[in-house]
Amino acid sequence: MAREFDAIAPVYDQTFTHTATGKCLRERVWHFTAKILSQQPGKALELNAGTGEDALWLTQQGWQVLATDISPDMLLMAQHKKAAAGIPQDNSPFFQTLALEELDKLKDSGFDLIFSNFGGLNCLNLEALRQAGAAIAQKLKPGGHCIAVVMSRFCLWESLYFLVKGKFFGIFRRLIKGPAHAPLNAQTSVSTWYYSPRTASQILRGEQLVQNNCQPIGFWLPPPYLESFFAERPKTLFILHWLEKHLAPAWVSPAADHFLIHFTKK
Ligand SMILES: C[S@@+](CC[C@H](N)C(=O)[O-])C[C@H]1O[C@@H](n2cnc3c(N)ncnc32)[C@H](O)[C@@H]1O
Repeated sequence: MAREFDAIAPVYDQTFTHTATGKCLRERVWHFTAKILSQQPGKALELNAGTGEDALWLTQQGWQVLATDISPDMLLMAQHKKAAAGIPQDNSPFFQTLALEELDKLKDSGFDLIFSNFGGLNCLNLEALRQAGAAIAQKLKPGGHCIAVVMSRFCLWESLYFLVKGKFFGIFRRLIKGPAHAPLNAQTSVSTWYYSPRTASQILRGEQLVQNNCQPIGFWLPPPYLESFFAERPKTLFILHWLEKHLAPAWVSPAADHFLIHFTKK
């Protein structure tokens, strides 16, 4: 898995983070996260941190962030961003190569927040997701938060897109038993397990986490692979962003591209 993500690391920001759709989607994640985290900032662990966009944002909010990822090259990009932002080496965020499957081996614990954005947890099958949930619970302080943004098993936007294109297999792409192969670029794809909010919640929370709420990310906003279409139609994207902000209630989460799920540790 590290090799596949290493391969796209140099262009990840250009093809997602800094795109018009990518910015709108992340704005929604930051909006919900800021609402949840009204407390004093503390110690945060970021999982599958990628190029560090959220690690830098959390640091700006006052959090002490340890950002982890399986891909050393993704974290290298994150290090460059930290340096470009003028943050000294020995200040937050700190970066560490770590697979989600090895979370229980991390020495540090007692986190106030564990954060996972944009589908890193979808790289885990059901059993691995269960183990990650248990490790998250073990690493959190009592009362600590876990915020995870997970790719949904059904995405209305995507189904309509494939229907219009006459690509009928695409409509059910996420529903197949076993992993789907999600393309990262023209040459590379990764095994991906899509989860409904209900399944993700049941599997992740185990006995120690309590689910608080779940919000849609990308119900009106289109999936990132439609960027080229929407980059040329900024007004349409503006309207979709507005709809996402004002007309996307929690109950549409199962039909959004991603959902944001929030747990606290008992
Ligand atoms: C879609 S990117 C999301 C990156 C970042 N969270 C963001 O918001 O832009 C998914 C990330 O998950 C990481 N990843 C995939 N499988 C992983 C695993 N088993 N353990 C840790 N990280 C993993 C990838 O290296 C990649 O950086």
